[in-house]
Amino acid sequence: MKPVTLSAIKEMKRRGEKITCLTAYDYSFAALLDRAGIDMIMVGDSLGMVMQGNETTLPVSLAEMVYHCRCVARGATRALLIGDLPFMSYQESPQRALASAGRLMQRGGAQVVKLEGGEPMAETVRFLTERGIPVCAHLGLTPQSVHQLGGYRVQGREAAAAARIRHDAKVLQQAGAGLIVLEAIPAELARAITAELEIPTIGIGAGPDCDGQVLVLHDMLGIYPRPSPKFSKNFMHGAASIEDAVKRYIAAVKSGEFPGPEHSFHAA
Ligand code: KIV
Repeated sequence: MKPVTLSAIKEMKRRGEKITCLTAYDYSFAALLDRAGIDMIMVGDSLGMVMQGNETTLPVSLAEMVYHCRCVARGATRALLIGDLPFMSYQESPQRALASAGRLMQRGGAQVVKLEGGEPMAETVRFLTERGIPVCAHLGLTPQSVHQLGGYRVQGREAAAAARIRHDAKVLQQAGAGLIVLEAIPAELARAITAELEIPTIGIGAGPDCDGQVLVLHDMLGIYPRPSPKFSKNFMHGAASIEDAVKRYIAAVKSGEFPGPEHSFHAA
């Protein structure tokens, strides 16, 4: 099967085909997701919580991300592979971000790197993309800022905060981001951003109108022992196997059935 490229993902937005993405952290799950036909696999720093049992993503190191990315890259022969830049591996300077992104791509096999943050990260996004590194931005609930945000809360419910996120999305696109994750924001805000941007939006708790959806694998399989977020869904219910659950997720995203109203948030 033909490998999925970033251009192919952008083309899916243009023709209105929903983009599917799940996280994975090891070879076997990556191979399973690939076989099931997922468009993108994200090696998220959520591995700090679901693999390592930490309370937040902050303890994850670049070396750990590289290790998990490399494992996933061996299993993901078709899906586009996105690797997360972990906390403090890119915030200091564009140069630091370049060195970290280079390691994630050269040693980890990532094809796109993801970083969190709005306008203050635009210079870094430009610095990376001008040097041939595709970047996925991440706005809304940015888990690396959990302590500044005061917890894992829905973002952009108030008009001023919504306007800020909308502005940040445009600035990041202008800076060269190829994709943007929108996490835990009102569905109507995600719809407006998705309509405004040329680059695909990938929602997680951002309603049904994003160009694609992503979930943490351990949440959608119902195997994370702590409570899963309201925006997630356990696709193992009624599924014959893990592969069947993943195929049901893909079908539900492609048809627009997931996320439903019960997985979405609204403005204040
Ligand atoms: O770390 C992660 O897995 C993520 C996605 C859920 C968007 O950032």
